[in-house]
Order: sequence, then structure tokens, then C-alpha cells
Amino acid sequence: MRRPVKSIVVLTGAGISAESGISTFRASDGLWENHRIDDVATPEGFERNPQLVHHFYNQRRRQLLLEDIRPNAAHTALVRLEREFPGEVLIVTQNVDNLHERAGSRKLLHMHGELLKMRCVETNQIFDVQEDIGFDTLCRCCQTPGNLRPHIVWFGEIPLHMPQISRALESCDLFVAIGTSGNVYPASGFYQTAKIHRAHTVELNLEQTRSSFDERLFGRASIVVPEYVDQLICSAVAP
Ligand code: OAD
Repeated sequence: MRRPVKSIVVLTGAGISAESGISTFRASDGLWENHRIDDVATPEGFERNPQLVHHFYNQRRRQLLLEDIRPNAAHTALVRLEREFPGEVLIVTQNVDNLHERAGSRKLLHMHGELLKMRCVETNQIFDVQEDIGFDTLCRCCQTPGNLRPHIVWFGEIPLHMPQISRALESCDLFVAIGTSGNVYPASGFYQTAKIHRAHTVELNLEQTRSSFDERLFGRASIVVPEYVDQLICSAVAP
């Protein structure tokens, strides 16, 4: 029998932001906005050609700051879950956009970093940025050109907040993955960790992935997430 749900971990991926106008990663051509992932999302790519990598993230940042890029109904539904569910709700996102926080989510961990932040490679200090950055931009802490890198977790690097995420996965009663293909480790294994610790696991996605969740709901995030959140809140507050 399923135990009562007192704590929920929600993992989100690019699919939750797709209807806000931000491209997902795994398009059929294997390219990310016309670039090879090795060139723009690895430490080696940055070492080889920092100008290209800065240019790429400048473009992504500009796109995110466009007026018509806004949180959609799925982001808003998760805010409602955090506010109205009478228990713990933690959102772990693989997304580097800021749509969850713009919608109003508070308990949120960006495991793959954030597009609107840069980091000093010497001191690890993190800075908010909205403007374009180049290889010659002076770092705000050490005033050295070339010391700033995007605060993004690239392939081969360790995701952020892992100890906190692991603790939450081990103690949650319900794990919900939204709009993620399950192709990138370690996020792809989160449902298994939660399952081992006896949580119920649910996938909300446009299409079936290879992961074996206990329950699956298919459809656009802007439709299925609000419906699912309504259901969770209703069953939690029902007498
Ligand atoms: P992917 O692009 O791999 O997968 C997006 C998923 O969203 C797919 O399973 C789609 O079926 C689903 N999807 C698309 N549109 C949707 C919609 N409107 N509603 C619901 N689902 C929809 O993106 P991620 O799984 O997030 O890492 O990718 C994981 C990581 O790989 C990213 O964080 C990024 C990337 O390389 C880094 O940048 C480190």
C-alpha cells in the first residue's frame, strides 16, 4: 500500500519550458541551437574556444530576456503546489533558465547552474549578469580578463547541490519528473533512488521515455502539470 504523501520532490527538465519558447536539447538532428554539444557544453570546448562558448551563452541569455519568454501554466502550477500542498515540496531543475523563480517558486535547486550567472574560475565567486560577456571582460572580483565562465554545469562536471538533492530523494514520498528525457546522469537515476527508498514515482511528459516510473501521464506540460497538481492538492486536503 502507498504511504501518505508528506514530502514531494519534483524534477524538471527542458520540456517544462518548451511552451515558453525555449528549445529542448535533444532535437532529432543532435545539435543544440545549431552547435555541437561538445563545442559549447564541455570544459574542453571552453578551453578550445572561449569566445565561441561566451557567444553561445550570450545568445541564450538574450533569448531568455526577451519580453515574450515567460513562465507557462506548468511553472505556475508548481508554485501553487508549493503554496497549497500541506507538506514539503522541493523543485530540482535541470534547466538553466529562470522561469521557475519568475513564476514564484521558492524552494528550488538549479542542479545544472543558471544562465543569468557567471563564475570566477579563480575564486569561485558567482555574479548575476544580464549583459553579454566576452573573453576580455574583466572579472568583478579579481579584475582579470578571461577569468569569467558561465555558471553552467557542463558535461563531465559535477552537478550542484547533490548532497541536499540526495537527502531529499531518500526521504520523499512522491517523486515527479516533468519534461525530461532521462538521458543525462545523475538526474536520470533520481527516480530509482526515490523508488529504492519506497517513494511513488510519476512521469509527466509529452511522450514515453525509457525510464520505468510507477505512473505516467502524457501530454503537454501546460495541460498535464496543472491537472496533476490539482489532483495532488485535492487529495491532500480532502477529509
Ligand atoms: P531533453 O531535451 O533531453 O528532453 C526534453 C523532454 O521534454 C523530452 O522527453 C520531451 O519529450 C519532453 N517535452 C518536450 N516538450 C514538452 C512539453 N511541451 N511538455 C512536456 N514534455 C515535453 O531535456 P532534459 O531532459 O532537460 O544539461 O536534458 C537534460 C540535460 O541535458 C539539460 O539540463 C542539459 C542537457 O545537456 C546541461 O546543460 C548540463
